[in-house]
Amino acid sequence: RVPDPCIVVIFGASGDLTKRKLLPALFHLKQQNLLPEDFSVVGVARRDLSATFAADMQDGIIKGGGVDAGDSTLKPFMDKVKYFATEFDNDEGFEKLKAFLADLDGQLGTKGNRLFYLAVAPEYFADIAQRLQKHGMTDAPEGGFVNVIIEKPFGTDLESAKKLNSEINSVLKENQIFRIDHYLGKETVQNILVFRFGNALFEPIWNRNYIDHVEITAAESIGIEGRGPFYETAGALRDVLQNHVMEVLSFVAMEPPDSFEAAAVRTEKLKVWKAIDPIPVENTARGQYGEGTVDGQKVIGYRQEDRVNPESATETYAAMKLEIENWRWAGVPFYIRAGKRLAKRVTEVTVVFKQPPLHLFKNNAKDGSIQPNVLQLRIQPDEGITLTFGAKIPGPTTNVKPVEMHFSYADAFGKSSANGYERLLLDAMLGDGTLFAEREGVETTWALMTPILEAWAATKPADFPNYEAGTWGPKCADDLLARDGRKWHEL
Ligand code: BG6
Repeated sequence: RVPDPCIVVIFGASGDLTKRKLLPALFHLKQQNLLPEDFSVVGVARRDLSATFAADMQDGIIKGGGVDAGDSTLKPFMDKVKYFATEFDNDEGFEKLKAFLADLDGQLGTKGNRLFYLAVAPEYFADIAQRLQKHGMTDAPEGGFVNVIIEKPFGTDLESAKKLNSEINSVLKENQIFRIDHYLGKETVQNILVFRFGNALFEPIWNRNYIDHVEITAAESIGIEGRGPFYETAGALRDVLQNHVMEVLSFVAMEPPDSFEAAAVRTEKLKVWKAIDPIPVENTARGQYGEGTVDGQKVIGYRQEDRVNPESATETYAAMKLEIENWRWAGVPFYIRAGKRLAKRVTEVTVVFKQPPLHLFKNNAKDGSIQPNVLQLRIQPDEGITLTFGAKIPGPTTNVKPVEMHFSYADAFGKSSANGYERLLLDAMLGDGTLFAEREGVETTWALMTPILEAWAATKPADFPNYEAGTWGPKCADDLLARDGRKWHEL
């Protein structure tokens, strides 16, 4: 469905996200005829960039969006890209912005419909939302919409998330608020639900009777990419585990919703998070990378990165064991981990099944055990699904060897240039919050993670840096599984 005519207003438009992700995503929507004819994008930031903004965005679309510079839809799209400079705490600026947008409505027929995107530092979220309301920009026109997307990080702990929620909810209705987690825009993440609930085959075995444990890995080979000041206050738990990984976990673990409507999906996700037992700090592991080699290149350690404290205690790796106390999952541990400067970039859900009840056959494993069936839902890169099972090695003896059944997105559907923001921008224009975080969910995941953050803050890690860049993380994370007689599946 194509959204109604509207203006997308991006606050913080001078930042990287707008150029690298948002404009390419909007252009991809245009290419698929999923944008209304009467449409405009207005970038808002503090500096006066009106002379260079459009050219800069076009550059982002071509480079970041993989778009051909000669594409005939590019010029008409760029004509709709505008820029407006204001301080974020300036009432006069907001009054002028209101007039600017109203003027565009008059020229373009965008009817007062707005999608505001707050791609700014988190300390401005509430302020901008409140100022939009003060200047009468949050009321939807008759039969139309004013929706607001809020970027992460949504708070830094439970208390700050609650405060932010109450500030924002005081000026916007919950159904106007779209808290974005770009992982939910990824096809492979959405496909977890299709894999489970769009097929008859897998759901019957998706429980404690058949599954031994689940691993979720979000590994990156990149470091902090010059984001020292931000990362120093964040760390791997706040940056990735609390949001992206917990969202993925909810899709893996939730009960089938009654429908694919926002309320039904959110209810089931929330039930999963609420069923997670408080996490003892003994069930967590943290790490920080030292210097090492990544992709054949020598790289510096975290503490040597630009604008990072040389004695920093910030974790660049976090892992934990979660136990979901409900009928489906009791006794099935979920091991989750996220980190920077690891051996490779790979995000994956690994489902390890139980052993067959009786070992009838010999096999080629050193310890004589049969390899369990493993299902790998590869979120990125090399998007796909692999199922490992045992097969008879041809010959006169009955020996078993693990073999793979493989589905690749690229082979089945061709390569996609989508970056995840397409779907989420479209949904926010359509008012569909299914793939967005809601208030209680955000607070529930923070409630789970905050005691760990506090415990970590209270005891400075004596062994940092405790993993070499380009490896699979600290030994304590291996110990976490070794205690249960398991080890991380090799990715
Ligand atoms: C962001 C984090 O939310 O997600 C980054 O702030 C991280 O630190 C990024 O690199 C990972 O996203 P993706 O889509 O590259 O897996």
